[in-house]
Amino acid sequence: MQWSHMDWPALRALREHFLDPKGRDYWSSRSLLENYDLSFGERISWKWAAVLSELQARGWAPRPEWRVVDWGCGTGRALRAYFSVFNTAPYQLLDRSSLAVSYADSKIRETYPKAERATSGPYLLVLSHVLNEQNNETENELLKWVSQSEAVIWVEPGTREHSAKLVAIREKLRPQFSIVAPCPHQSACAIPRTPKAWCHNFAPVPPTVFHDSRWGNFSKELGIDLRSLPVSFLVLQKAPWTAAQPNRVLGRPKRLKGSYRTVLCRAEGVETQTLRAKEARRQGLGKNPLFFKVLK
Ligand SMILES: C[S@@+](CC[C@H](N)C(=O)[O-])C[C@H]1O[C@@H](n2cnc3c(N)ncnc32)[C@H](O)[C@@H]1O
Repeated sequence: MQWSHMDWPALRALREHFLDPKGRDYWSSRSLLENYDLSFGERISWKWAAVLSELQARGWAPRPEWRVVDWGCGTGRALRAYFSVFNTAPYQLLDRSSLAVSYADSKIRETYPKAERATSGPYLLVLSHVLNEQNNETENELLKWVSQSEAVIWVEPGTREHSAKLVAIREKLRPQFSIVAPCPHQSACAIPRTPKAWCHNFAPVPPTVFHDSRWGNFSKELGIDLRSLPVSFLVLQKAPWTAAQPNRVLGRPKRLKGSYRTVLCRAEGVETQTLRAKEARRQGLGKNPLFFKVLK
């Protein structure tokens, strides 16, 4: 499919559904999956690129014996993003839509013809944009997959609501897992007792997008601001994680006259810190895009 054939009304209806999910399968055709994969799916892959690059920077890598399970795979964007950074591995695609599973599988085979499917053995779970479509029952089912995994990479939109849900899940899972990212510590999360703060960052958007009329149309047709790509995420593993965990800047530092105001997550809690511009620049703040900047 090409951008010139994009079905904007179908994508608008899909977006409405994402914002107010009705708990039913909405993948009505392969064409809808293709429309999604080229547009929303592509934007999701930019979030994955950012999260995976942070994991690499932290020295995290998957174990070679793990297979990868993509739950709620949709078009399989998360798994493809994962394969593009880490080695391919035996994989399993799960979705309530068999059409989605079959589409995702065909896309993976197109790009990674040697990758094979597998349904047993220790696994890494990838989860992407699945949280707000769950009711109590399906969330419990999802959490069973999480509990039985060796590691989880979970990426969601960077809204206050999604982030709060991920924080609650982090707290629930803390006794079972080590926290690899985004946190600078393994203790209880301080966000719920910090007014106004929420755990989110901004993924970089490829600069070419801003000169591309196709993305211009996307923005206009769907009313989406391309400049900002907020993301919340959570990475867990069963094995202990002992690498140094630098402090994290939440959201975007605010530029003031001669300084930056940052909301900083540290082992001791979440606090607002003002840094002189020179010092902020030395620490890597103030560059564009501001994403996953961590202060020692
Ligand atoms: C917003 S889409 C995200 C798709 C893909 N993970 C991505 O990031 O592009 C949510 C996906 O989760 C699937 N899904 C939602 N609830 C599910 C459930 N309870 N069991 C299985 N799949 C589910 C939907 O069918 C859909 O494919």
